[in-house]
Amino acid sequence: MLSLFLFWIIISPLNVKFHVTDASLTQFNLTSSNTLYYNWKVNITVRNPNKNIIVYYRRITAIAWYKDNEFGWVSLTPFDQGHKNTTFLQVVFEGHSVLKLKSKQLGEYKEETSVGVYEDLAVDLDLRIRVKYGRFRSSRFNPPVVECGSLRVPLISSGKMAPPFRVKKCSTGPFFVDRNARGAG
Ligand SMILES: *[C@@H]1O[C@H](CO)[C@@H](O)[C@H](O)[C@H]1NC(C)=O
Ligand SMILES: *[C@@H]1O[C@H](CO)[C@@H](O)[C@H](O)[C@H]1NC(C)=O
Ligand SMILES: *[C@@H]1O[C@H](CO)[C@@H](O)[C@H](O)[C@H]1NC(C)=O
Repeated sequence: MLSLFLFWIIISPLNVKFHVTDASLTQFNLTSSNTLYYNWKVNITVRNPNKNIIVYYRRITAIAWYKDNEFGWVSLTPFDQGHKNTTFLQVVFEGHSVLKLKSKQLGEYKEETSVGVYEDLAVDLDLRIRVKYGRFRSSRFNPPVVECGSLRVPLISSGKMAPPFRVKKCSTGPFFVDRNARGAG
């Protein structure tokens, strides 16, 4: 933990950058028994801007939100990312879960259903990584959760043109600092 802190001070690596480049829903049905049936595809680019750091993504959990309610989880395949490299992730949330919206949110859901575009969807990425810098290898740690919020996502229904999706930058804290160690020293 100490070595990781020193690593951060000495090398001050640039944060890895995340963007949502595309997103679409093919199903987003909320039944009267508060069950949401969903099929949501999200494309995310991950760019390591550092020229001397290799990032090993060992655990990647994507979490789907609608208006501050979690509704889906998916584990992505671990991957390695070299210097100045960009990785394309395709996340597919599919299934059903219990979703209890507040009455105001339920009103918004109904309105958005009539328009065919859902507001306030979000994806979080909960990561566990290892990094390599020259001969230095870190142990595994958890960067701050990556938050891709305020997404406007069209429902793709047959015969209907979806409005283009606007690329959205995700927010991260200091990426190479273990979030579990923050505030401890
Ligand atoms: C995401 O990327 C894949 C592969 O490049 C592409 O086929 C798809 O249309 C993109 N968009 C969504 C919403 O999945
Ligand atoms: C979701 O809604 C669409 C359109 O109203 C309907 O065709 C479909 O059968 C519904 N699916 C479920 C699982 O309720
Ligand atoms: C970036 O990733 C691609 C695909 O995995 C790989 O072929 C390429 O060598 C990588 N580039 C660097 C600089 O690591």
